[in-house]
Amino acid sequence: MTEIVSESSEEQTRGVWEMMELLNIDVLEEERAEEPEDAPQAPLSKNASRKQRHWERTLAARKSKRREEKRRRRLNRHSEEEDTAHHQLSKRAVKAATRERLAEARVSGLKVCVDLSMSHRMSDKETSRLAAQLRRLYGSNRRASKPFRLFLTSLREDSRLLAECVRMNDGFLNYSLERTEQSCLDIFPAESVVYLSPDAQEALERVDGDTVYVLGGLVDESVQKALSLSRAEELGVRAARLPIDEHMRKTPNGKNFHSKILAVNQVFDIMLAAYDTGSWTLALDKCFPRSKGYAVAPQGHLASSA
Ligand SMILES: C[S@@+](CC[C@H](N)C(=O)[O-])C[C@H]1O[C@@H](n2cnc3c(N)ncnc32)[C@H](O)[C@@H]1O
Repeated sequence: MTEIVSESSEEQTRGVWEMMELLNIDVLEEERAEEPEDAPQAPLSKNASRKQRHWERTLAARKSKRREEKRRRRLNRHSEEEDTAHHQLSKRAVKAATRERLAEARVSGLKVCVDLSMSHRMSDKETSRLAAQLRRLYGSNRRASKPFRLFLTSLREDSRLLAECVRMNDGFLNYSLERTEQSCLDIFPAESVVYLSPDAQEALERVDGDTVYVLGGLVDESVQKALSLSRAEELGVRAARLPIDEHMRKTPNGKNFHSKILAVNQVFDIMLAAYDTGSWTLALDKCFPRSKGYAVAPQGHLASSA
């Protein structure tokens, strides 16, 4: 009886020893390294040496995973630095190309005037909205592949509108455009001018480089009907509307809302796209705001027949 007890407690002691050895394997290995070479080492049982091999493999795998992580982090750091350098370089290149395109446009670009002679008709709120639209319009011109030669005409130096443009639009006074108190007819002959008006009879057929296009710089929250048409008549120039009836049809919407009167920057975007692509369909499809309740029509389904 006594013998049986002592045998199983010997086994238990060995088991505990093996476990401690496994748990402290690093410590033991270090201790072993400090031990003299010829120090006697207790032989491991089969089970313990299997566990030890497993542990050693786990350790090696962890080590190599850590090394791999470190390498990946180093590579990532490098590629982030490269990306930033590349990004800064391409940002500079994009800026330089934009400057070049705008400079070229100021010599040979298609001429577009925004007529600001009606700005006294706007409330403070409308004036602020027009200032924001002029910022968007200029932004579109900067990004365009074929920018226009842009004039802000009849813009008085002491006007509320100019003060608002300067207040709201960073760098407004350095925009690459021509700003003048003169009217468009002080600069261009009347026969070369087409005034764009939503109320004109005639539809614009094409956007061509020999014509000077004039847009009314106006925000009228409560619509002042035919203002730009009257202005065209007053100037004695041709008036034309965007060819919406010729290329678009009404789209059903909850409020049954349909409007062909766009903001000045939206008309400008359509003109840029039409000039760039030579296609009204493409230009209207890309730039006409969906919220206005029109979409480009499949052949034979036009706004005029809706
Ligand atoms: C908000 S609109 C001004 C609307 C104003 N009731 C008027 O009589 O012109 C601003 C300018 O964008 C241009 N515009 C807007 N919609 C147009 C359209 N469908 N066709 C041609 N020009 C348009 C015109 O030059 C217009 O003066």
